[in-house]
Amino acid sequence: MKTERGNFSSKLGIVLATAGSAVGLGNVWRFPYMAGENGGAAFILIYIACIFVLGVPGMLSEFIVGRHAQANAARAYDKLSGGKPWKLVGYLGILTSTIILGFYSVVAGWCLQYLFASVAGQLGGDAHYVKNYFQEFSSSAVEPVLWGVGFIIVTQWVVARGVKAGIERASKFLMPILLILLLVLVVASCMLPGAVDGIHFLLKPDFSKLSGGVLIEALGQAFFSLSLGTACLCTYASYFTSQTNLLRSAGQIALLDTLIAILAGLMIFPAAASVGVSPDSGPSLIFITLPNVFQQAFAAVPAVGYVVSVLFYALLVFAALTSTISMHEIGTAFFIEELHLPRRYSAWIVTTCASVICVLSALSVGAFDLKLMGMAVMDFCDQLTANVMLPLGGMLTCLFVGWYVPRQTVSDEFTNHGALSNRFLAAYLFAVRFVCPVCIMLIFLHQLGVI
Ligand code: PHE
Repeated sequence: MKTERGNFSSKLGIVLATAGSAVGLGNVWRFPYMAGENGGAAFILIYIACIFVLGVPGMLSEFIVGRHAQANAARAYDKLSGGKPWKLVGYLGILTSTIILGFYSVVAGWCLQYLFASVAGQLGGDAHYVKNYFQEFSSSAVEPVLWGVGFIIVTQWVVARGVKAGIERASKFLMPILLILLLVLVVASCMLPGAVDGIHFLLKPDFSKLSGGVLIEALGQAFFSLSLGTACLCTYASYFTSQTNLLRSAGQIALLDTLIAILAGLMIFPAAASVGVSPDSGPSLIFITLPNVFQQAFAAVPAVGYVVSVLFYALLVFAALTSTISMHEIGTAFFIEELHLPRRYSAWIVTTCASVICVLSALSVGAFDLKLMGMAVMDFCDQLTANVMLPLGGMLTCLFVGWYVPRQTVSDEFTNHGALSNRFLAAYLFAVRFVCPVCIMLIFLHQLGVI
């Protein structure tokens, strides 16, 4: 049976859906706390280098594979390699994205719960109250599980509607709202008294915090934030049209993604500095520190504090949703094409697998002491995917396109069969053949203590 493949219908739809995948909790939750823990601007500089030197060529490679093959990730690598084991890279991507979907939904579920709590005015109280609130909620055996799995089901609802009517439409609606909310919050935060210290923290590098560990964290964060190495970009590229300018799209998306991460920093750190909160409070920054910051910062006009907090959690939920949609779509596309299942049933398979990971992750940081290799399941999944599976997937994709895929195919996709200039083709090939694999390898070896 031949399955009808969907397509994005417009240029804007393509950029917004792919940017929607890239922009997510990685930008608004993970990036600020990582920058906070790793020296602010110093980390950001390395991060930006990773995005543009390694990330953009990596994105472009996934785009080339996906658009050329017009198939799900596993089949795409299979097609381009003529049946050689390269399809394992596709399988790796599908596995990685399902694991990420599982633990990411735990945090997305917390955001959803906080959105409801902020609407209901339950986040008001002193610092001690807010901390207790988070600890009680996240350590319950039921609530985080329900919110997390609920989030996956909402995701499945969008994905099941298809590429155009579900994914593209949701992105076109959610992404502009997200940008507007973010800008409003940045302005509100930067206008607070004492906000300057937070801005300094973001812009003045503290190189003393830099170490080899920070390098791999920056690389992992860059790949995570671009959704790179999960075959997600490859799957979305299979819905691109033959006119899509791949290089320009990769550049635009990387730029937008970086800009939004920095704006998220400009939203969080000035507000935190204004009430004297340290920026390095880790993953709980947005759940413990910020509700408190909003209240103190807008103590004179509590209604503004209320609105800001509702807007902030709405922003997080929207950002998370466009990303979970993309993670979900990778597996869904795979089951549709490989098992010839209707989209709805394929989506249910992904929902079920991700929900198992979500439940274990949620419980591991709350009600039960579930550990894998000495880490809570949730942290294990986070570290394993961001610091190992994503760089590995990205590196293999670069090697594949750089060394294995015929030069003519790469050139055809790069220039849309001659319609676009090939000015940067040589630089791109040099990056994917040498720069990306060598840099990623060096960072890996360093992490393992070999160099
Ligand atoms: N890029 C997303 C974010 O920053 C996360 C993501 C990772 C999405 C991998 C898809 C695949 O939140």
